[in-house]
Amino acid sequence: MIPISVPYITNEEIEEIKKVLKSNYIAYGPKAKEFENMFAEYIGVKYAAAVSNGTVGLMIALKALKLGPGDEVITPAFSFIASANTILFTGAKPVFADINPETFTIDPESALNKINNRTKAIILVHLYGHPCDMKPFLEIASDHKLYIIEDASQAHGATYEDKKVGSIGDIGVFSLYATKNMTTGEGGVVTTNNPELNRRIRLIMNHGQEGKYNHVELGYNFRMPDILAAMGIVQLRRLDTLNDIRRRNANTYNNLLNKLEEVKTPYEADNVKHVYHQYVIKAEDRDGLKKYLYEEGIQTDIHYPKPIYKQKLYIKLGYGNLNLVNSEEAARKVLSIPVHPLLTKRDLYNIANKIIQYYEGR
Ligand SMILES: Cc1ncc(COP(=O)(O)O)c(C=O)c1O
Repeated sequence: MIPISVPYITNEEIEEIKKVLKSNYIAYGPKAKEFENMFAEYIGVKYAAAVSNGTVGLMIALKALKLGPGDEVITPAFSFIASANTILFTGAKPVFADINPETFTIDPESALNKINNRTKAIILVHLYGHPCDMKPFLEIASDHKLYIIEDASQAHGATYEDKKVGSIGDIGVFSLYATKNMTTGEGGVVTTNNPELNRRIRLIMNHGQEGKYNHVELGYNFRMPDILAAMGIVQLRRLDTLNDIRRRNANTYNNLLNKLEEVKTPYEADNVKHVYHQYVIKAEDRDGLKKYLYEEGIQTDIHYPKPIYKQKLYIKLGYGNLNLVNSEEAARKVLSIPVHPLLTKRDLYNIANKIIQYYEGR
């Protein structure tokens, strides 16, 4: 079976982790700080905080902005559940906007229509590795005095007009989960250029502690251990090279699949660099194609089978009657095919040929 994703781990990670294990420091310490400095420099921000995972990264971001009950936060209906659930967790209300059908990222018009006097922030999601259209969002944020949180969990190294995502809004959040373009197994990073937000992020991730055993507000333990930070350092050094391979793989697929009427290959806007966390096609008879590929030894996935408001939890919360057409269409048609850097040229041709065969044989 050709897997949809494989973590790219070498002896280098193993050796660096061994060094930490043999040192006196295995919890959050010097390696985590080294990783934070490297990550901040790479993204082009003043501050980065290494945390336990992307989900708590989003929670920290919302809490750093002091959002909670009575506040509304706009977020795309078509995303991984965490981008909406973290809003619920703070007691604020998620408000769903539709996506752009080409890029699968949140549509500025739709977001604009959801703003009212309770709206305090927008969580943008750079879905699949394609950056959101930041310019209109920065204008909306400035006009309506809203915060922008960039959920860059799927877009490490992606750029919008030559700026790395995670450096453009008020706060950026990255996941380092096992399938991501870089990974520490579980892990996350929160980025910002704002010193006051950085101060609050650091309080919230570390028991609200300002100096040892001096707790000035409510915080938790959301820190990344040095064992994982050592892996993050190696993964970050390799990120650009692996992203280039993902882009090359995507290009190979585009050339092979563009001729199919039944398949729409991914779009990349002129002013962005897409990093293809997922290579997502819109396919006619998507479920039939998925089944056929599985029988032919190719694992695929559906990111995501439902808009978030159609999940049971959100139906129970009263969101069930929403009907955002582009999110609905994406949920019906999207299929992620393997694009990870360990695929051979032969794998790529084999996968593309199987897709072509499926439609030609119908
Ligand atoms: C868009 C998005 N947001 C948030 C998360 C949550 O990250 P984590 O799994 O590290 O908690 C993920 C990934 O899983 C994601 O893809």
